[in-house]
Amino acid sequence: MRRVCLLFLLVFTLLPGCTSGPSNQSAAGGAERILVLGASGRSGRYIIAQLAKDGRNFVAATSNVERARENAGADYNWIEVDVRDPASVRAAMTDVTHVISALGATSFEGENGPEFVDYMGVRNVVDAALEADVRRMVLISASGVTNPDHPLNKLGNVMVWKLKGEDHLRESGLPYTIIRPGGLLDKDAGQFRIVLRQGDDLPYTSKLSVTTRGDLALLCLAALDAEEFRNVTLEAFNDRTQPADDAWKEQLAQLTPG
Ligand SMILES: NC(=O)c1ccc[n+]([C@@H]2O[C@H](COP(=O)([O-])OP(=O)(O)OC[C@H]3O[C@@H](n4cnc5c(N)ncnc54)[C@H](OP(=O)(O)O)[C@@H]3O)[C@@H](O)[C@H]2O)c1
Repeated sequence: MRRVCLLFLLVFTLLPGCTSGPSNQSAAGGAERILVLGASGRSGRYIIAQLAKDGRNFVAATSNVERARENAGADYNWIEVDVRDPASVRAAMTDVTHVISALGATSFEGENGPEFVDYMGVRNVVDAALEADVRRMVLISASGVTNPDHPLNKLGNVMVWKLKGEDHLRESGLPYTIIRPGGLLDKDAGQFRIVLRQGDDLPYTSKLSVTTRGDLALLCLAALDAEEFRNVTLEAFNDRTQPADDAWKEQLAQLTPG
């Protein structure tokens, strides 16, 4: 997993450029239960920390509860899910109203590589969420995913499989938000300006090549219910030359579905 993460960061940055909270009412009405997949991962941890802080009702999924307790916190409500196993995913969907996926392959090749996690794992999650009448799924993908020549395609076709996972969600009929960050930085939210874009056409040379995991978590939570985030695919970056502000909320209003 470390190899995949480090390479992601390298490509994006070096190339130029619970505690289950109290039962809550979601904005769409009705008691909410948010399933976070990849919750013990480096982005997942920011997401569950923010959900806990906000007092949201959520369940944190991991492929290994013991490891997750040790690495990401013993106080969360962990459940064990292997996204490669459709039955395991279906079992996790009981009473779930929203899904956030911070999943990512742990190797470039082999049985937990991108084909089996970023594509088939995501597909299993989408299909189970549809069966369970989930209100929205927020999927973390990656900026550059539509570029067939992306360097990560030289390594297990990472972007090819991630795009297939995205496509399955877009075509499923399940309400969705797909967020494509740049190279991820372990930094809290609110440090830099957030910039939202669409079209996945940003060159690597852009100063907008990174995203803090804190701001990514903030956007994932904002996307759970907001109408502007419904059925959209967007890129989300930080402009580290500018302080945090609310300019992204105006960009949000301009997003188009797709
Ligand atoms: N790293 C970057 O710079 C970067 C840049 C752009 C986009 N992204 C994308 O952003 C997302 C999050 O990245 P990250 O670096 O935060 O991820 P990460 O730390 O690698 O975490 C990925 C998570 O996926 C889970 N997972 C893997 N295989 C699984 C399986 N078979 N069943 C259940 N869970 C499984 C792991 O959970 P367990 O530990 O419980 O197995 C792990 O917590 C990924 O989709 C990544 O591709 C990353």
